[in-house]
Amino acid sequence: MSKSAPVGPRVHELIRERWSPSAFADRSIPREEAKSLLEAAQWAPSAFNAQPWTFVVARRDEAEDFERLLSCLVPFNQGWAKSASMLLVTAARAAYEHNGKPNTHAWHDLGLAVAQLTIQAQSLDLRVHQMAGIDVERTRRTLAVPAGWDPVTAVAVGYLADPESLPAEVREKELGPRQRKPLSEIVFGGRWGEPFG
Ligand SMILES: Cc1cc2nc3c(=O)[nH]c(=O)nc-3n(C[C@H](O)[C@H](O)[C@H](O)COP(=O)(O)O)c2cc1C
Repeated sequence: MSKSAPVGPRVHELIRERWSPSAFADRSIPREEAKSLLEAAQWAPSAFNAQPWTFVVARRDEAEDFERLLSCLVPFNQGWAKSASMLLVTAARAAYEHNGKPNTHAWHDLGLAVAQLTIQAQSLDLRVHQMAGIDVERTRRTLAVPAGWDPVTAVAVGYLADPESLPAEVREKELGPRQRKPLSEIVFGGRWGEPFG
């Protein structure tokens, strides 16, 4: 199933073809492929090169670890993410290591790392679905996240499956159109409120 973004021909197909499915095939992800996603995240840019991110990872073959990560998601997300080939829980470091000052760009940098992971996944015909819907306190406890780190998201990675496998309300969203605000609403030229281009 394709849900291509209606963008111009100069936008790379990895970006055009990316979307966030909920139907994942019951397949394992090879260890080397999983590692390549994490390397893509590792090499993201970050403010002061602080790399304020950590990923707790479980592949579905690692059943006990996978169940532990799955239990950190809110029930709605557990419902579909249980079929993913790999789950990650992301965390951001709240302060810089070099001076202890608050890192106000930590979540931004973590998002960049996940974006790189997402595009790397797409290049391997894997799909990524990010989730804000985690139970933060449970995550902290269950995964032993240390003080000074904030659990931020969970990320499901897997191979696309037929949406018929989904419960009705999720299937509707899976088959529905993708929408974005128009560029004119999110981009200004030179000064806030001025049209771009
Ligand atoms: C930080 C973040 C949190 C999200 N949280 C959830 C979530 O908890 N559950 C869910 O089903 N989708 C979640 N999504 C997926 C978004 O709904 C999805 O990316 C958005 O609707 C755009 O669709 P697309 O990714 O297919 O282009 C999240 C995405 C991001 C980036």
